[in-house]
Amino acid sequence: MDRNLALELVRVTEAAALACGRWVGKGDKNSADDAATEAMRRTLDSIDINGTVVIGEGEMDEAPMLYIGEKVGHDGGADVDIAVDPLEGTSICAKGMTGAITTIALAPRGGFLHAPDMYMDKIAVGPQACGVIDITASPEENLKRVAEAKSCYIQDLTVVILDRPRHEKIIGEVRKAGARIHLISDGDVAPAIAATVADSGVDMMLGIGGAPEGVLAAAALKCMGGGMQGRLVFLSSEEKDRARAMGIDDFDRIYSAEEMAGGDVFFAATGVTNGELLRGVRYFSGGAETHSIVMRSKSRTVRFIKAEHQFDFKPVY
Ligand code: FBP
Repeated sequence: MDRNLALELVRVTEAAALACGRWVGKGDKNSADDAATEAMRRTLDSIDINGTVVIGEGEMDEAPMLYIGEKVGHDGGADVDIAVDPLEGTSICAKGMTGAITTIALAPRGGFLHAPDMYMDKIAVGPQACGVIDITASPEENLKRVAEAKSCYIQDLTVVILDRPRHEKIIGEVRKAGARIHLISDGDVAPAIAATVADSGVDMMLGIGGAPEGVLAAAALKCMGGGMQGRLVFLSSEEKDRARAMGIDDFDRIYSAEEMAGGDVFFAATGVTNGELLRGVRYFSGGAETHSIVMRSKSRTVRFIKAEHQFDFKPVY
């Protein structure tokens, strides 16, 4: 695939962030999500790809844009599958809290796990601890191994966990083991990526969140040499039927980052509100500043891009 695709992708997440950035703190998560989705959809067609959305805003009958199976780009472009979350952390954005991002990943056809819209149990760490995690082991065991791999004490480690009643047990276990916890209200993709960034202050992301978000995080972690494991969590037989229809028949399977995002993968994200990974959109007279991360697995090049957008010269709709 053309390496320039990476830089094209960041224009897509920037456009989405500039659009939904106007909705920060306005208490309307649906409008924020719609603004991001529309901007992302519009910008995607300007990229030289012949793409199919495999992780998107929902099934065709429930999402007007970026639905699963939707074609984007044009004939003759690179044949790719696309995973998107136009606004990851809709409630965070609506409340003006930290950690909302816009995000997209590309893989060659068939590269992404077609994860249904259900839960996934996840563990994510940075490159130093990549080979030592085991989602079937206890939080304490994983923390011990990560501390050893990073030559530090468990007490030095910070684990990000979604603040949900379902996580009461692992929160207790992590506390008992002695690690620090950062509880988040939403948005587990950015902290999974932050675990791979040396000075982010995050060492591990743990717990159950969305499966589509798991695939997006896996794409990023693969590009950065981080370690991730995910296992689908089925709450009903209907979810099993849905997974089966998407080609999944081993319900206990543990997926590595590579198994969730195979081949030459590209990933981009832009901050909407401030977070551990990226700064949010800042508007100024006549324009705005964005902070993004963009990467490619083949080269492992990771770029942090600060961009200034001048609306008088390039209007944002
Ligand atoms: P949205 O952006 O769709 O609101 O999802 C946010 C999120 O917090 C994800 O980051 C996370 O994986 C999932 O929702 C957790 O789901 P739940 O809120 O049901 O615990």
